[in-house]
Amino acid sequence: MYQINEFKQRESLDQALANQVAVILVEAVKSKGKASIAVSGGSTPKGFFKALSQIDLPWANITITLADERWVAFDSADSNTRLVHENLLQNKAVAANFFHLKQGNILSEETLADLNVAAASMLLPLDVLILGMGEDGHTASLFPCSDQIDECFSTSAPLLRVLPKTAPNERISFSFLSLKESKNIFLHISGTGKKVVLNKALADTNIKEMPIRAFIQDPEINTQVFWAE
Ligand code: 6PG
Repeated sequence: MYQINEFKQRESLDQALANQVAVILVEAVKSKGKASIAVSGGSTPKGFFKALSQIDLPWANITITLADERWVAFDSADSNTRLVHENLLQNKAVAANFFHLKQGNILSEETLADLNVAAASMLLPLDVLILGMGEDGHTASLFPCSDQIDECFSTSAPLLRVLPKTAPNERISFSFLSLKESKNIFLHISGTGKKVVLNKALADTNIKEMPIRAFIQDPEINTQVFWAE
């Protein structure tokens, strides 16, 4: 299920989302000494990253990771890691820990196995998950066009390798089952085009056709949708 929070301006959304996430992270650190957050890449979250980076939080006890990453060099314009380093791991958030999904040159079975062990012990379940959504209804790198779409929903491993056919780059993504355990899930989207995609996602039920449906329609999941014009 989902609740929608609408904003006239993207800057207001960015600040409101950052404030809400900050409260959750503070509470998590207070109750268990640490907190984890996975953010998404793409073009939407930059302003939110900047707003969150300026909030005074116990950053040294907070680990940031990505819901998914493209398997590209860190200096590539396509690197979500780079996006996070340049926009979120700044200002007050410079003290935060970052869990790298892109390790080494090749996404081998061995690398994946090591990452799965580390993610399970250090990050999961996530305290906060910020999802994005593509025009095709993908979220994280759960791509409807990929041969791995069944595995995206069925694997109990935290992470998997995905090769989208309609988007560039090999990807690593948290699986649906690991993402759905997140304690607080947000979907951050903006623009009328994304509203149309959201409405299309709400109009039918096939999750493998539009993976975002799994997060907004599953009665066990409560997704806060943040949308700005
Ligand atoms: C990625 C993402 C992906 C993204 C959506 C929306 O690395 O590609 O994590 O799931 O969130 O594609 O991207 P935009 O914000 O660019 O529309």
